[in-house]
Amino acid sequence: MKERLNEILNEALDVLDRLEDIDAIEVLRVKLLGRKGELTQILKGMSAINPNERPIIGELANRIRNNIENKLKERISFVEQRLLAKRLKEETLDVTLPGKFFGRGSLHPLSIVLNEIKDIFLSMGFSITEGPEIELDYYNFEALNIPKNHPARDSQDTFYITENILLRTHTSPMQVRVMENQKPPIRIIVPGRVYRSDAVDATHSPIFHQVEGLLIEKNVSMGDLKAVLDAFAKELFGPATRTKFRPHHFQFTEPSAEMDASCSSCGGSGCRICSYTGWIEILGAGMVHPKVLRGCGIDPDEYSGFAFGMGVDRITNLKYGIDDIRLLFENDIRFLKQF
Ligand code: PHE
Repeated sequence: MKERLNEILNEALDVLDRLEDIDAIEVLRVKLLGRKGELTQILKGMSAINPNERPIIGELANRIRNNIENKLKERISFVEQRLLAKRLKEETLDVTLPGKFFGRGSLHPLSIVLNEIKDIFLSMGFSITEGPEIELDYYNFEALNIPKNHPARDSQDTFYITENILLRTHTSPMQVRVMENQKPPIRIIVPGRVYRSDAVDATHSPIFHQVEGLLIEKNVSMGDLKAVLDAFAKELFGPATRTKFRPHHFQFTEPSAEMDASCSSCGGSGCRICSYTGWIEILGAGMVHPKVLRGCGIDPDEYSGFAFGMGVDRITNLKYGIDDIRLLFENDIRFLKQF
């Protein structure tokens, strides 16, 4: 019996020294120490052994069992170390290999300019709000003092959805929506898409972008309007920019004006961008019409204010010298990559 036990041990040690993989070691462990393993069987059959020899054989069997267990552990850790070393060697990083290229996007020029416009007005204490592109005739026209059949409607070729629902032709309806819901003081800008059924060409697109502005407080004058918009133009086009206000007509402001800025390309001496006039038209503006204020529940004797609206697409094209509005909508990567 003793010989058999020593044989088992020697055999185990011999085989173990040659095993190179974890699975094979596990198979050997089960064979030796598992429930049906020879060593286990011997330990189980102790009752059949002569009582005098039992302690000696038992002690030896246990020692061999421990011995084998330790050797198994040692071998497993040895094999694992070797595998790890091999992997580390194989997987070393070659920092001279070319990396993977991830193309980096950029903001659309309209977004760049819109962000600048927003930042300027935010710094002046305006907040930003947005409104629906599908709008009621009431907000787009009626409440802005443009009644049905009024000739002022002709200038805005409107996409009608039903008789009373349309795609907004400007962001001005948000003047009314805001004033209906908010008591003065009001200082907001409203960026957004607007729609007019124009034929597409270099200067017309049926979809374009406006930023509306509205300021309602006590004792607001045309002088405030001019100061705010002049400061805006200097921020957007540079400190040397000059502005001038030409009388104009809008149904919802009185008096009304259009603001021109000195051409940022030539500084006012005349170039292709400004059609050799030295000036570029930037926005429409005016003092909010008392009729519009009253319609929104604001007393024109207590409050006054101004509104303005600008075309973001136009301003973007002027800033970057882009001569065709269609480029802003075609999403040609060769164009977009330049920003
Ligand atoms: N909504 C006008 C337009 O689209 C611009 C404007 C806005 C004029 C606010 C005056 C005041 O032409």
